[in-house]
Amino acid sequence: MTLKADIRTIKLPKIQDPRGNLTFIEGGQHIPFDIQRVYYLYDVPAGEMRGGHAHKELQQLVIAASGSFDVILDDGYKQQRYTLNRPNIGLFIPRLVWRELENFSSGSVCLVMASLRYDEGDYYRDYQDFKQAVQIPQSAPGER
Ligand code: TYD
Repeated sequence: MTLKADIRTIKLPKIQDPRGNLTFIEGGQHIPFDIQRVYYLYDVPAGEMRGGHAHKELQQLVIAASGSFDVILDDGYKQQRYTLNRPNIGLFIPRLVWRELENFSSGSVCLVMASLRYDEGDYYRDYQDFKQAVQIPQSAPGER
């Protein structure tokens, strides 16, 4: 069993220039959703962990805009660790994936593009609730 098929890293455009590199992201173009919100994590103390939740509908692209950190994804069946350390590589996280972020390097910045505005009601903050939501077998059409 592999992780949810649509979890993937996305290589973003990189305009290389002796004056410094430039990366851009257009919603619906480089990532499979329109961007409704952007947020970033920074000044994360050594050894701290962020995340620890899943989303009912939200899709996200997570980028190490500076430094590095690990993202551990769990689709309810399997876990996989991704190390992000390049500003032109994003990790696409679809809905219903539990995520934890750790191993933040000093000065790192975790930049997140999100498909929806902030809504606490969209979170699963309890792992068991999340597991239950993803592991209930879907009945076939016409089946009860
Ligand atoms: P949370 O999503 O739990 O942080 P992380 O997953 O990065 O560890 O959010 C932490 C707090 O910030 C929580 O009280 C909700 C608030 N928050 C907003 O108000 N707006 C936002 O866009 C985000 C991401 C969080």
